[in-house]
Amino acid sequence: MDLSNGLWSKKEQMNILYVIYLISSLTFILGLKMLGSPKTARRGNLIAAFGMTIAIFGTIFLYQDEGGMHLHNLEFIFGGLVLGTAIGWIVAKKVQMTAMPQMVSFFNGMGGACAALISMIEYRHLVSHSDGDLIAMVEQGGEVLTRLSIMYAGLIIGSISFAGSIIAYGKLEGKIKDKVLPGQQVINIGLFLAIVGLALSNVMGWLHTDTMLYIVAGLALLYGVLFVMPIGGADMPVVISLLNSFTGVAAAFGGFLYDNKVMLIGGILVGSAGTLLTIVMCDAMNRSLLNVLIGNFGGSSAGGGDGEGPQGTVKAVNPSDASILLKYAKKVVIVPGYGLAVAQAQHVVHELEELLESEGVEVKYAIHPVAGRMPGHMNVLLAESNVDYDKLIEMEDINPEFATTDVVLVIGANDVVNPAAKTDSSSPIYGMPILDVENARQTIVMKRSMNAGYAGIENELFYRDKTNMLFGDAKKMLTALVAELKSMN
Ligand code: TAP
Repeated sequence: MDLSNGLWSKKEQMNILYVIYLISSLTFILGLKMLGSPKTARRGNLIAAFGMTIAIFGTIFLYQDEGGMHLHNLEFIFGGLVLGTAIGWIVAKKVQMTAMPQMVSFFNGMGGACAALISMIEYRHLVSHSDGDLIAMVEQGGEVLTRLSIMYAGLIIGSISFAGSIIAYGKLEGKIKDKVLPGQQVINIGLFLAIVGLALSNVMGWLHTDTMLYIVAGLALLYGVLFVMPIGGADMPVVISLLNSFTGVAAAFGGFLYDNKVMLIGGILVGSAGTLLTIVMCDAMNRSLLNVLIGNFGGSSAGGGDGEGPQGTVKAVNPSDASILLKYAKKVVIVPGYGLAVAQAQHVVHELEELLESEGVEVKYAIHPVAGRMPGHMNVLLAESNVDYDKLIEMEDINPEFATTDVVLVIGANDVVNPAAKTDSSSPIYGMPILDVENARQTIVMKRSMNAGYAGIENELFYRDKTNMLFGDAKKMLTALVAELKSMN
């Protein structure tokens, strides 16, 4: 489409496009900043989406190549846009909150695939401009060498991200099982070196065939599969975050190739945000990234790290006893965990909170950074039922308050309240920061059984004198508590 005879000259159109890119980049940065708080996250997301929309349409209608040509094949571009938007919209509308990590993983995989395809297409362009003699052009060094290097980098990282994300998706959906091959680490390292070696030999012109690009792409896809395959299913959020940063970097390489600043900035933002999130999650679990990737947590042994679980008896209570404890408390702290999400009990917990407040009880929620199975899981879950954001207190701020708390109500949380993290140096979670609920006067723990949580270890808290176990599904038990409290009035 040629707009040069329209309102603006070709030069003016490109200048307008650069202004649009600048605005878009600012909206990405602002949006990302606003995602830092549940209060502003929704608006931040919309602002960044607006920036992306104007960048896309600006490019479609205003961009021109060096010859002054606008984008063509608009029917394919708009066909793809409509189809992609419809699929994305339907999938995002239908997805359950507990299935959010796999959706993120799937979408991330698509980003990786796009970056890899961009590299492939640009490689074909480069070959077609080299009169069939790419080696001669490579030998001249300079720009061709740089472009080829960037293409391979985008291709390799994008392909790994695509294949890895799809495997992560399959695992979280329960369709793919963990699999560790004999000598897995050696195979992975060997494969990685082969990929880098082959790419380098082509870039440097030592070993040139037109099919090299496809061989490298195939090996990178295989590497993505083998990289994610052995990692424990519940460690996937960390891996997804890492793959997310890969996709960002691969997209940034695409920005280099097209000399497109907004793509470059967007890619760098995704790459750095993904890397930071990966680090934050690992820190919150007190595990190194290597430990997550090699995957010796999330597993097998019940009991403490030394194989000996805590001994003693547990005190089981019924909803009637628990509701009396809650009703006569001055201050109650609710600790939500993975089980609250599984039971979909977010609405009824809000009802309980309001009921207690109407009785004059002060109620707060203690949010552990890795409670649940994805970053911000508890915040998102509780926001769904309109719990006031100001009541969600982060771990560092709530920990000193437990000593003055009458009752802590732990709902489907386990590892994040396990004192072994502080006392048992042989425990796999030793050193992980936890919520100090043991300091409260009384604790009610709501879960279905004595089964372990994600880390696969027993919890000494359940055996403490001040702990009252309320066994049952979180939604059923919370509903029973609400009914008991109402009947007392
Ligand atoms: P977990 O330690 O996994 O414990 C959840 C507990 O919920 C289980 O012990 C289970 O006990 C109970 N439960 C399950 N379904 C329930 C239901 N319908 N009703 C009531 N209870 C139910 O969860 P957590 O304390 O939230 O800790 C999160 C864990 O995930 C940590 O180890 C963390 O490192 C890991 N992790 C988190 C993330 C992020 S980013 N959040 C990422 C990777 C790993 P029963 O079976 O007895 O009911």
